[in-house]
Amino acid sequence: MAKDETKKRVFSGIQPSGIVHIGNYLGAIRNWVGMLQECDCIFCVVDLHAMTVQYDPERMQENVRETLTVNMAAGLDPEKCTLFVQSHVPEHTELTWILNTCASHADLARMTQFKDKSRRNRENINCGLFTYPILMAADILLYRAELVPVGEDQTQHLEFAREVCRTFNSRYGETFPEPKPRFGKVTRLMGLDGKAKMSKSMNNYLPLLAEPDEIVSLLRPAVTDPARVKRSDPGTPEICNIHTMHLGFSPPEDMAWCEQGCRTAGIGCVECKKRLADNMNEELKPMRERYNQYKKNPGYVNSVMEDGAKRCRELAEETMRTVRKKTGLR
Ligand code: TRP
Repeated sequence: MAKDETKKRVFSGIQPSGIVHIGNYLGAIRNWVGMLQECDCIFCVVDLHAMTVQYDPERMQENVRETLTVNMAAGLDPEKCTLFVQSHVPEHTELTWILNTCASHADLARMTQFKDKSRRNRENINCGLFTYPILMAADILLYRAELVPVGEDQTQHLEFAREVCRTFNSRYGETFPEPKPRFGKVTRLMGLDGKAKMSKSMNNYLPLLAEPDEIVSLLRPAVTDPARVKRSDPGTPEICNIHTMHLGFSPPEDMAWCEQGCRTAGIGCVECKKRLADNMNEELKPMRERYNQYKKNPGYVNSVMEDGAKRCRELAEETMRTVRKKTGLR
């Protein structure tokens, strides 16, 4: 896709977990889709970031492809944005090194994600896990992105990237625009267990491309308002995770029906979940269809990755020419 000079450049990264669930969709992808028209969007599957935790090299390719394909099916239309894989553009690692020299060790040491991940996995506290935010800063600055749509969990990393950007600019002269966060409509979705945020690692997720009967069977045991033990017990919609999902997928009249029914015990959780499943299915059906089309045509997915990498290499090379000159390397 040709660069449109009048549009703001947007960049975001996607972890190649191979699983895309409705939490990812409501929390990120759907907001990105809303930016495709007005912005010049670049989305990157971040395989280099994925190496900072334990992973299976044998499954990397498959996970990268699957993540990309599901995101395309979910609405990241390759005709309307640029999609690529991080390691296909070697400049990410080159800029990372240079930004290493602009990044504060003390700032990195404050990153809560590093503290969490290293606490959870004491056997593999590697340097890449520590410098992860520098690679993320390089991702953004390499394309001179102005807007970065992020979730709450990435705000600290983005603030760090802004600081690295300011340090580079003040040391070597104005080079990069300062990237601003763009927070979408936040839907904090809990997992089906009602205990933790929906995530692959907690195994409490509803896959975005689940078939209708799978949606029903996963929702059936999903945790609701604990006050509703019997159908005749009234509940509080605001504290129910199913209600949050309705907010994401249901039209206003259904919302009203569910809220009213829950408060007055007019409907049971089973009916409430049934209505949710129907509405989800409405929105997810075209995605499943697109996904099946893409799966039948791996050559097309390859060409999306190749075209994306080609455009991004050109943009990255242009940035790196400037960076090398300003830093006195060439
Ligand atoms: N760290 C982000 C995440 O885990 C992914 C990411 C990598 C990213 N590079 C990025 C997000 C650049 C925004 C911009 O979700």
